[in-house]
Amino acid sequence: PLGVPARHLASVGSTMTEAAAWAADGAPHGAAVVAETQTAGRGRHGRVWRDVPGASLMLSLVLRPALAPERLGLVGLAAGLALAEAAGTFGARARLKWPNDVLALNAQGRLVKLAGVLAEASWSGAAPAVILGAGLNVEQMTFPDDLRATSLRIASGRDVARLDPLAPFLDAFAIRLDQAESAPGRLLADVEARLVGLGDLCQVGFPGTDRPPLTGTALGLAPDGALRLATDAGEITVHAGEVTLAR
Ligand code: BTN
Repeated sequence: PLGVPARHLASVGSTMTEAAAWAADGAPHGAAVVAETQTAGRGRHGRVWRDVPGASLMLSLVLRPALAPERLGLVGLAAGLALAEAAGTFGARARLKWPNDVLALNAQGRLVKLAGVLAEASWSGAAPAVILGAGLNVEQMTFPDDLRATSLRIASGRDVARLDPLAPFLDAFAIRLDQAESAPGRLLADVEARLVGLGDLCQVGFPGTDRPPLTGTALGLAPDGALRLATDAGEITVHAGEVTLAR
């Protein structure tokens, strides 16, 4: 099972750092660090992940998956899909933006960010681990203007509490993580079924690098979870980046 053993903390810099230290100290596969608030929450591409104390589900899991290195990208996809499925148990229809942003409707009926996933490799300690961080907005009813985001309460219209989605997420993630190993085609098909932008013109940027953005039509996922993009220069497979839909 995932989430066993678990450490629940009131306030922490980042659950990623706590979980990595615990992994180096021998934490088993599935160990979880859950926090009520973070003072130095981290997002993808070196961004800050801000939270309102007590309003979001934030956790990091220590994973020691029995996956071939070229399949490790499936872990983040599985986590995003599991978050979307957990949101679905409360009646919210969640979609995915490659690689693993979870989107749902805001009060204005726009598809914006509901949850995010951050996967980091941890090499210290006896055995390597993947530290899988998930942040899901749950109880917020408003967001700062500069944040295009929504919460499970807004998207579902239900009175969901911060920890309510934890068990549904862990259950769904355990199943999807197994599939990454045993039935990756099924996992990829279920992720694709929720992907926004398939068949559409997209721009893929590479924040924090000098690489210029790519423009092309999103074709689907490669077996390792990469995004297949049809560009003027032919098909390109993108392993990391940030998709913007050209509407
Ligand atoms: C993203 O969308 O950029 C990823 C956001 C990941 C946020 C979570 S909250 C729990 C864990 N601890 C962190 O510092 N980040 C992740």
